Amino acid sequence: MTLFRSLHSRLLLCAAGLGLALCAHAAPAAKVAATPPMGWNSWNHFAEKIDDATVRAQADAMVASGMRDAGYTYINIDDTWEGERDAKGEIHPNAKFPDMKALADYVHAKGLKLGIYSSPGPKTCAGFEGSYGHEEQDARTYAAWGIDYLKYDLCSLGEQLDRSSPLQARQIMRDAYVKMHKALLATGRPIVFSLCQYGYDSVWHWGASVGGNAWRTTGDITDTYDRMAEIGFGQAGLSKYAGPGHWNDPDMLEVGNGGMKPEEYRTHMALWALLSAPLLAGNDLRQMSPETVALLTNRDLIAIDQDPAGHQGDRVAAEGTLEVWAKDMADGSKIVALFNRSDIYNEIGVDFRKLGYAKPVKAIDVWSHKDLGRLPLDTRMLIQGHDVILLRVKP
Ligand code: GLA
Repeated sequence: MTLFRSLHSRLLLCAAGLGLALCAHAAPAAKVAATPPMGWNSWNHFAEKIDDATVRAQADAMVASGMRDAGYTYINIDDTWEGERDAKGEIHPNAKFPDMKALADYVHAKGLKLGIYSSPGPKTCAGFEGSYGHEEQDARTYAAWGIDYLKYDLCSLGEQLDRSSPLQARQIMRDAYVKMHKALLATGRPIVFSLCQYGYDSVWHWGASVGGNAWRTTGDITDTYDRMAEIGFGQAGLSKYAGPGHWNDPDMLEVGNGGMKPEEYRTHMALWALLSAPLLAGNDLRQMSPETVALLTNRDLIAIDQDPAGHQGDRVAAEGTLEVWAKDMADGSKIVALFNRSDIYNEIGVDFRKLGYAKPVKAIDVWSHKDLGRLPLDTRMLIQGHDVILLRVKP
């Protein structure tokens, strides 16, 4: 798929009438989402209360807070930006977004990228104009505005699926995503294509084949430990479907929105990093506590998420509410996470033999950077409720 995308972009460059020499030497299109996309999305905090000024302010804050320098790139406008179509069927933003191209220019000038949102159905989830029947036209409009990321949310197309047999529904859904994928490719602009259909029809089996760079695996997250944990720990078994250019997406972050305790947000962020999930902050970047900034910009967590090998982590053991997850890193080390899902402290054990080790392992505590020396093959640790112990382990 990547090869196709890059070849396709080359052809378009040539077709656009550029010199033959340039055609021959045109660099392949930038590979989108080689590591999980990082950025910010308006929905979790602002929902429909989002406008041009607020998006600009989030871009400013992404730079001022150090998040851009930590790797966050995309500023994504979610639902409720859409206005009416004109006589030619061209989509226009509503009054909250007077000039989308100017907004994109502003975001780009800061070294960031701009994302937008639509639906393959006639209406978006919030009841605004969707792309149904206007896919090519909308893709061209997004490219002309300078859009770099599209979240494509099933919403009202779901009503068609409800009236269909599972086999028909499967076809309708896949056709809809393929259609927009082709339309995006035809623009020649590298645009991350993010599928959002809440995990229907085991999307991880086919999301990449319809051009998805990421696909939501579940319904919506909320800013509570229970919902975050239900979604995050529910990703067990999905690791084999993710890799460079195509990622499982357990929904956007709630870090900093205020509904969880520090150890719960630590668990949220550590789990998402271990899952190689898109890291899309969902809070108000203008008003962050030092703890929120520190967690969102934690270089060690970001390095786990963004590891170039792109091996998603997975669950390796569970004992009641205690779970051990691990992720293979490009340098041969493993990230081992010990989670306590109960709300009281517990003793959690990890059997390093199950992770392939034959001798005591060298371990570093990721949170404190403390060298823990060698840990026995059968290690037991005390852990407080809803917390996570995070280790980087080598033979
Ligand atoms: C759905 C999606 C959310 C958000 C809203 C917007 O619920 O899952 O992430 O995009 O629609 O209406």
